[in-house]
Amino acid sequence: MRVLVIGAGNMGLTYAEGMSKSTLLNRHNLMIYDKSRELIASLSKIEYFDVYEDIEKCLPTADIVFLAVKPYHCEEMFKELKPLVNKEQVFVSIMAGVTINTIQEGLDLEKVVRAMPNLPAQVGKGVTSYTASGEVSRIELLTVRNLLDTTGESIKVENENFIDASTGISGSGPAYIFYFMQSMLEAALKMGFSKNDSKILVSKTFEGAVELFNQSDLSPESWMDRVASKGGTTRAALDSMDDNNVKELIKNAAYAAFERAVELGKEK
Ligand SMILES: NC(=O)c1ccc[n+]([C@@H]2O[C@H](COP(=O)([O-])OP(=O)(O)OC[C@H]3O[C@@H](n4cnc5c(N)ncnc54)[C@H](OP(=O)(O)O)[C@@H]3O)[C@@H](O)[C@H]2O)c1
Repeated sequence: MRVLVIGAGNMGLTYAEGMSKSTLLNRHNLMIYDKSRELIASLSKIEYFDVYEDIEKCLPTADIVFLAVKPYHCEEMFKELKPLVNKEQVFVSIMAGVTINTIQEGLDLEKVVRAMPNLPAQVGKGVTSYTASGEVSRIELLTVRNLLDTTGESIKVENENFIDASTGISGSGPAYIFYFMQSMLEAALKMGFSKNDSKILVSKTFEGAVELFNQSDLSPESWMDRVASKGGTTRAALDSMDDNNVKELIKNAAYAAFERAVELGKEK
């Protein structure tokens, strides 16, 4: 199996690195291509994949092709790739908002997987949702899943509506967590903690809470009840959040991202 990653930016490199560390591929079966000559020159020193500056030399030899360019570059990329693709190849797109149908029409082929990763993929802790066109076989889909899992975990979703929905939860989600972290950091600084101590207090609190959650079957609500006692400090904080409708506001924010993902898809 030969895999080509098109677009050596943040996400393309993350996938190339993830796949290179797995036992799924040997080094010379992992290829990366980018249209930027400077980027290609700087990547040529990296040992764990083969870097290409001519699409003609790598695309025809690939079995699975990852599309990792920005969505607004897809039309231009389709024109470049179309004469070189064959219908047996499986294309895996991580481009936000670009539908399976757009890719099938743009490249005149059938086998397309659409995936929505998230930023923690960079540290092997990503979560990716994916769905595929009916022409992708079960074996091909299993292979793609194994490749996606090299950056964390993945879940197969029923249709593209869930890809847009997962943009609102896991795709954009890391930014919501950073928003919460930023608010707590600002509160800690205001209380007089140093920058360094604030960082430790906040990051360890997040890490510890997630670990507790992962190691049990309790819901976040049950965990909240365990931390909060009647008339205590945590209850004061949670009551303040409830009085200000924070939960509803966060749900609305996730829906705003979901709706924007749908809108972006229609603009393509
Ligand atoms: N970052 C995230 O957290 C995240 C999460 C989910 C999905 N995604 C999706 O991942 C995709 C990649 O995002 P990114 O942040 O990695 O983008 P990026 O850092 O801009 O990387 C894209 C790379 O592709 C290159 N490129 C553009 N057109 C090309 C072409 N025709 N052929 C080959 N290479 C081409 C770009 O070169 P130039 O810079 O010269 O244009 C750039 O080096 C996007 O579609 C995004 O929607 C990202």
